[in-house]
Amino acid sequence: MITLSKVTKIFKSGFASQDIKAVDDINLTIHTGEIFGIIGYSGAGKSTLIRMLNGLEIPSEGSVVVAEKEVSKIRGSGLRKARQEIGMIFQHFNLLWSRTVRENIAFPLEIAGVPKAKRQKRVDELIQLVGLEGRENAYPSQLSGGQKQRVGIARALANNPKVLLCDEATSALDPQTTDSILDLLVDINKTLGLTIVLITHEMHVIRKICHRVAVMETGKIVEMGDVLEVFQNPKQPITKRFVQQVTEPEETKDTVDHLLERYPEGKLLQLSFVGDEAEEPLISKLIRNFELDVNIVQGKITQTQKGSYGTLFIHVDGRNDEVLKALDYIREQKVSVEVIDRA
Ligand SMILES: Nc1ncnc2c1ncn2[C@@H]1O[C@H](COP(=O)(O)OP(=O)(O)OP(=O)(O)O)[C@@H](O)[C@H]1O
Ligand SMILES: [Mg+2]
Repeated sequence: MITLSKVTKIFKSGFASQDIKAVDDINLTIHTGEIFGIIGYSGAGKSTLIRMLNGLEIPSEGSVVVAEKEVSKIRGSGLRKARQEIGMIFQHFNLLWSRTVRENIAFPLEIAGVPKAKRQKRVDELIQLVGLEGRENAYPSQLSGGQKQRVGIARALANNPKVLLCDEATSALDPQTTDSILDLLVDINKTLGLTIVLITHEMHVIRKICHRVAVMETGKIVEMGDVLEVFQNPKQPITKRFVQQVTEPEETKDTVDHLLERYPEGKLLQLSFVGDEAEEPLISKLIRNFELDVNIVQGKITQTQKGSYGTLFIHVDGRNDEVLKALDYIREQKVSVEVIDRA
C-alpha cells in the first residue's frame, strides 16, 4: 500500500552548514490493512515523514508511493486527486471553527464536488460511524477533545480514503479519551479494511493498536518489527526506554518482596508469557495434573494486537518432586519460568 524508497528530506536554511536533515534515507513498506506505528522523540522527523505520504512535504531525494501513485512526483490536480485516497488527522484537530460538526464533515465532500443530496447522506453515515449522533449541529468550541477528534476522523474518512494518517492524534487527550479514540481507529481498520499509519511518542498507543512499529531517531528508522516482538526483545537503547513506559520494571522488585512475605511456605514462581499461550489453561492443567496447591497471586498480562505477553506470579505448595515435575511441564509449554529465590 505504501512504499518509501531511499527517502531523504533536507530543510534548507540558506547556509548549507545549517541545513536540517529531518528524514535520512528511509526505506519502508506498509501493507494494506495494517496499523503501522512510528514512535520517536520530538524532532526525530516523524511529522516530516508522515507529511511526505500525502504530499504536504516533497522529499529532497527518493520516492514515495501510496495506493499505486507516486505522491512524491505528482503535483497540482493529480496530487489533489491522490490526496482523496489519503485522509489525515492531527493533534489539534484542525477543524473549521465557524462551521458545525455537519459542515466540517461535509467540507471535503464539497471540495470533491459531491452533489448536495449525496453529501447529506454520506455525512449521516459518517456521524454514525464515529458516534457523534446528537451533536451534528454543535460548533467545535462546544465539543470535548474526544468529540473534536471524532469530527476530525469523520472528515478524514469522508471521501473513502484507502489510508488514514494520524499525526499525534491522541496526544492532546486524556488517557480515557485516548483509549476511546484508539478503539474507534481499530474499529475502522477492521470494518473498512483501512490502512492506518500513526505517529506518537507514547508506547501505550503502539501497544494498544499497532501491528508493527518503527522507532525513529534523528531522521532514521533505528528499529522495526512486529509490536509483540519489539516489546519482548527491544534491541536499541531508545526502544528499551519506550518499552519501559508501559512495562514499569521498577514495580517488580516491590511486588516480589511483598509476595515472599505473604507466602512463607511453598514456592513462588514467575511465569513469562510470550505470544499466544493462554495463561488460564496452563494454570488449570497444573492443578489437575500435579499434586499441588496453586494460587495465582499477581500478574500483569498485556494485550497487543498480535497476542499477549507479560508476567504472572503463582504460588505452588506441595512435595518437592511434584514441584520439579510441574516446572518441567511449564517449560514444555514454552512459557519461561523462574523460581523466586528467598535468599
Ligand atoms: N518546515 C521546516 N523548516 C525547517 N525545519 C523543519 C521544518 N519542519 C521540520 N523541521 C525540522 O526537522 C526536524 C524534524 O521535525 P519533525 O516535525 O518532523 O519532528 P517530529 O518527530 O514530528 O517532532 P514532534 O514529536 O515534536 O512533533 C526538526 O529538527 C525540525 O526543526
Ligand atoms: Mg511532529
